[in-house]
Amino acid sequence: MKQLEKIYEGKAKILYATDSPDLLIQYFKDEATAFDGKKKGIIQEKGILNNKISSRLFQYLEDKGIPTHFVERPSDREMVIKKLEIIPIEVVVRNIVAGSLARRMGVEEGMSLKKTILEFYYKSDPLGDPMINDYHIEAFGLAMKFEVDILKEMAIEINGYLSNFFDERGITLVDFKLEFGRHKGQILLGDEITPDGCRLWDKQTKEKMDKDRFRRGLGKIEEAYQEVCRKVLG
Ligand code: TMP
Ligand code: ASP
Repeated sequence: MKQLEKIYEGKAKILYATDSPDLLIQYFKDEATAFDGKKKGIIQEKGILNNKISSRLFQYLEDKGIPTHFVERPSDREMVIKKLEIIPIEVVVRNIVAGSLARRMGVEEGMSLKKTILEFYYKSDPLGDPMINDYHIEAFGLAMKFEVDILKEMAIEINGYLSNFFDERGITLVDFKLEFGRHKGQILLGDEITPDGCRLWDKQTKEKMDKDRFRRGLGKIEEAYQEVCRKVLG
C-alpha cells in the first residue's frame, strides 16, 4: 500500500489517502491542544504512545465484536484505517463526574453517578462543539434515528468492555469521547481512544493519567501517557 496526498490535518492527527480507495493512513502527531485550540503544546512522543494505545484498544474491541476502522499499525506513528464518512457527532460517555459535567451540575469531580451518562456534541471547532440531543441530530440531519440508536448501543457496549479492560490494569475509566462513521453501509467506531480523549484515574491514588495533566498544567504529562501505554500493552 502506498501513501498518497494529505487529505486532512487535525489538531492531533493527519490523514493521508492511499492507493487503496477504501483505506487511509492516520498519522499521530505530538501536538496537544485544549480549550478549543486556545492552549497549545507538545507532549513528547505522544503520537507514538497514542498510536500504540489506540491500536491495542481497537484490536481488543474488535475481538469483542465491536466494528472499528482499525486495520493495522505499520509503523510508530501510522495507523491504517478504513475510510469513513464521519458522523459529525462526539459521543461522550461518563461513569464518574468530572470536567464540564462537574461545572454544569455544580458538583465535585469524582462524584459517582447512579447511571452512566451519554452526551452528544456537534463536531464544530468554530462553535466550540455545542452539546446537542437526539432531536437536534435528527432535525439537522446529522444522522438517522436508527443510526443514533446504534451509536448509543455501541457506546454503552464499548464502555462496558473498556471499563473492564482498564479496571484490570488498575485504572478507572472516568469518561471518554467516541466518534463514529459510515463505511459500506455499516457504522464503525473511528478516530482514536487515547488519554487525549479519555479521563483515566489511577484506581488507588486517583491520580490523573490523561490530558487533564496538560489542560490543567499538572506536570508529568509524558510520564502519565507512558504509564497508560505500559499498562494498556501489558
Ligand atoms: P468534558 O468533561 O470536557 O466535557 O470532557 C468529557 C470527556 O470527553 C473527556 O474525557 C475528554 C473528552 N473530550 C474530548 O476528547 N474532546 C472534546 O472536545 C471534549 C469536549 C471532550
Ligand atoms: N475542546 C477540548 C478541550 O478543550 C479538546 C480536548 O481537550 O480534547 O479540552
